Amino acid sequence: MRKIAMLGSGFIGRFYADSIQGLRSKDKITSIYSRREESAKKFAEDYAVPHWCTSMEEAIHHPDTDTVVISLPNNLHEKAVMEAVSAGKAVLCTKPLGRNAAEARRMLEAVEKAGVFHGYLEDLVYTPKTIKALESVQKGALGKILWARSREAHPGPHSNWFWDKEQAGGGCILDLGCHCIEIARGYIGKDIRPVEVMCWSDTQVKPIDAEDHAIGLVRYENGAIGQFEVSWTFRGGLDLRDEVMGSEGTIWINNFLRTGFDMFTSGEGYDYVSEKAETNKGWIFPVGDEIHELGYNFMFADMFDGIEHGRPARETFYDGYVVNAVMDAAYKSSESKRWEPVELDIWRGKDGVEKISGAKDYDDQYYLIKEETTHYGASKLILKDKNTGEIVEKILKG
Ligand SMILES: NC(=O)c1ccc[n+]([C@@H]2O[C@H](COP(=O)([O-])OP(=O)(O)OC[C@H]3O[C@@H](n4cnc5c(N)ncnc54)[C@H](O)[C@@H]3O)[C@@H](O)[C@H]2O)c1
Repeated sequence: MRKIAMLGSGFIGRFYADSIQGLRSKDKITSIYSRREESAKKFAEDYAVPHWCTSMEEAIHHPDTDTVVISLPNNLHEKAVMEAVSAGKAVLCTKPLGRNAAEARRMLEAVEKAGVFHGYLEDLVYTPKTIKALESVQKGALGKILWARSREAHPGPHSNWFWDKEQAGGGCILDLGCHCIEIARGYIGKDIRPVEVMCWSDTQVKPIDAEDHAIGLVRYENGAIGQFEVSWTFRGGLDLRDEVMGSEGTIWINNFLRTGFDMFTSGEGYDYVSEKAETNKGWIFPVGDEIHELGYNFMFADMFDGIEHGRPARETFYDGYVVNAVMDAAYKSSESKRWEPVELDIWRGKDGVEKISGAKDYDDQYYLIKEETTHYGASKLILKDKNTGEIVEKILKG
């Protein structure tokens, strides 16, 4: 059983609490810290938490606390991690780990030096669909992964601090790109180095200093491409879609907006539909179990099992650091309008990997380019001569 100090009683703190204490879980939140007394008290009442406070230090150092979960604005992650480290407690931090790679690196070095368990709470690599898809990719169902595209777009976040560049550290790249980058990295291979980034971003709609719309390409050392598409200006709900292309197959995932559950309602007696839904009338798209569909259940199960069995989480502060380094390069690229290198002072994956080659032999003389059956009943092969480079057709059925 984990005894958790939850830091932050807002949007994600409550999603996490619903997951941690949902159903018949043995893990419990034993202390809640919030900035305002009334929010801390309300959270304590709602989740039957025995201790509440308005001091982060008090919650972390509380004798009952063995695990600290950070659900605070981005600019407070480092402070909270350092405090958890000083208390020698396991620490799980929401995304993004830092506002930049320098912050993330300091957090990574601190937890590793102290030898405390650390988990990066990147829920979207734990959604049921993503877990199944990642397993299929790892078994080779898609062959060599060439391109992984991940999109998260919605009409914008729900609290003032997100919109303040200093507190948040950036706009939608930092807030949403962190999810997309880690999803694509999972498919391409976490041991493959992200080398460089090309990114476009702009502030198209909202009156803010940070970007509200961005698209980026992350080139990996083996030639694979991760693509992220993020927006705080998208209308119509929470669009969470992934697409993976391999030499042997393809995956399309719609995690949230269209999950196969459509409802029509005049709006009578129906207010909350799902996260970031913009309407509760007409044809709407509810989500059966948001907590589970967003990956929180599998994520906390992995984290708490890791602590109890003495193994690392699938997502650690190291992963958070790599993602921050990719985002730093994305910000540089959207300024310079060029490919910018990903600066990773700490890299634990492979080096010098070869470029992916999907070329298939047909026989000793030819590569197979394509096999085609046409609408008029012909069947043929398109082949390339390995020595001369000539491209020929071999008719199987005329
Ligand atoms: N899917 C996800 O993983 C996901 C989703 C939403 C948010 N988040 C992350 O969770 C963190 C918190 O986001 P949220 O949506 O819960 O925010 P929120 O505004 O809803 O809640 C913030 C909490 O932090 C507390 N707090 C303490 N000091 C504060 C300060 N100086 N300013 C503002 N709040 C302060 C507030 O009392 C509140 O309890 C962020 O890092 C965000 O990126 C992750």
